Amino acid sequence: MNNTDAIGIFDSGVGGLTVASAIHSLLPKESFIYFGDTRHAPYGDKSKSTILDYSRRISRFLKASNCKAIVIACNSASASAFKELEQDFPDIPILNVVDPVVTEVSSLGAKKVGLIATRATVRSQVYLERIRHLDSNAEVVQIATPLLAPLIEEGFSGTKVSQGALEHYLDDERLANLSHLILGCTHYPLLQAEIESFFGSEVQVLNSANLVAEALKDLLLHKGLLNQEPMEKASMRFFVSEKTEAFRDTAKLFFGQEIQLEEKLLPA
Ligand code: DGL
Repeated sequence: MNNTDAIGIFDSGVGGLTVASAIHSLLPKESFIYFGDTRHAPYGDKSKSTILDYSRRISRFLKASNCKAIVIACNSASASAFKELEQDFPDIPILNVVDPVVTEVSSLGAKKVGLIATRATVRSQVYLERIRHLDSNAEVVQIATPLLAPLIEEGFSGTKVSQGALEHYLDDERLANLSHLILGCTHYPLLQAEIESFFGSEVQVLNSANLVAEALKDLLLHKGLLNQEPMEKASMRFFVSEKTEAFRDTAKLFFGQEIQLEEKLLPA
């Protein structure tokens, strides 16, 4: 493994681009290979075993592509597959998107934490357990918001459709008097401005993108894998299991340039 090798990043679709773009801003010398499993999105309504199967197959592809680290840029996959991927790929450092947010929210001394996430993430209880592990007094309320990822994946952020869905989910008395709200799906930062304007300034909204980029930097430094070479330009490759217009548009939005998509079926 070489420190100039690429970082592998994957999600069910466009959500992980929020993480990839934060990684690219913080670590511009790092090349990355992104995999968006658009053929199987959304992941959030699938069983643990199905999400685990897809995650294993994508990780096999990233390993075969010589990635020096893998970022599971998807909460549903982090919740369903992290431990298993660590066992399956012991020689590649793997990062999930849950732990950096849990550490942050605990360090903020949050009183009442809300979590909005997919059904798979809520069902796993991963946030609840890890936050309570660090602070047994923390109050945590979890709400599954299954319509949000598909509507973001289809390019409906910032429209009446997203506004209606957000009002439907957020106008829930269980979310009253929150101090912090975790966006427990990497798709949701695309709705962050709308969510913040719904709650106003009393609620601090947290997303994982920058926190994961920082955690990745620490991990690469610790493993001696950070790219210190002077490079003209890091390479970015974008693979999808099915090309979609919305993926192309969202990737362009994040990286400010036309993105060349490469189609790749999940390995068997
Ligand atoms: N972006 C993913 C997550 O963080 C998956 C959303 C989905 O495909 O349902 O959970």
